[in-house]
Amino acid sequence: MRGKFITFEGCEGSGKSTQLKYLAEYLKERGVDFIMSREPGGSEISEDIRRIILNGRYTAMCDECEALLYAAARIQHVKEIIAPALNAGKLVVCDRYVDSSFAYQGYARGLGEEFIKDVNAFALKEYTPDLTVFLDISPMEAFARKHGADNSDRMESQGLEFHQRVYEGYKQLTKYPRFHAVDCRGTKTETAKKIRELLIAENIID
Ligand code: TYD
Repeated sequence: MRGKFITFEGCEGSGKSTQLKYLAEYLKERGVDFIMSREPGGSEISEDIRRIILNGRYTAMCDECEALLYAAARIQHVKEIIAPALNAGKLVVCDRYVDSSFAYQGYARGLGEEFIKDVNAFALKEYTPDLTVFLDISPMEAFARKHGADNSDRMESQGLEFHQRVYEGYKQLTKYPRFHAVDCRGTKTETAKKIRELLIAENIID
């Protein structure tokens, strides 16, 4: 039986990495057969594409190029890592996926939902996540918690207004039943508990 596919989304500083770490520990304890991966990246070629996308020197990169590079990295990642793991019956947990493209390139950059759907047609056709956890915290609160942005990263250095648009983009995605917003303004352990409860309630884990 094909495994389940879940993704984590959120604005910069939403605490995604910490929550993914907690979840990995929990899944290990429970003996769940899973893999954890990330985007952009997750495979050797996709990690190389990641270095191009996030290179702080490439300020001339146009929005369409950016969106296509994310999509290219994604197809390679799906074919090389995600699809084989799902076909082997594993639970696949991915740090960011196509919803990041909807929020960042489609909404915040203004390329639109249709453009993102078109360039991600392969991923969306057979590899739409079964469930997406959106760590819901506004960029203002997230930046305050994180003590500022890392300006060497081309995406992080975009400024608060851009990240506010990303947040609005994410909010629009709550129209999809698989997309679950989890209020993560509480403590790390409170959020971890909410995520575990959600995954159990939605039959992703026992
Ligand atoms: P990363 O350092 O992994 O960010 P984070 O720790 O917040 O997940 O960098 C990934 C950056 O790429 C992040 O700014 C979000 C952005 N991104 C997109 O704009 N579109 C996409 O499709 C993906 C997967 C990521």
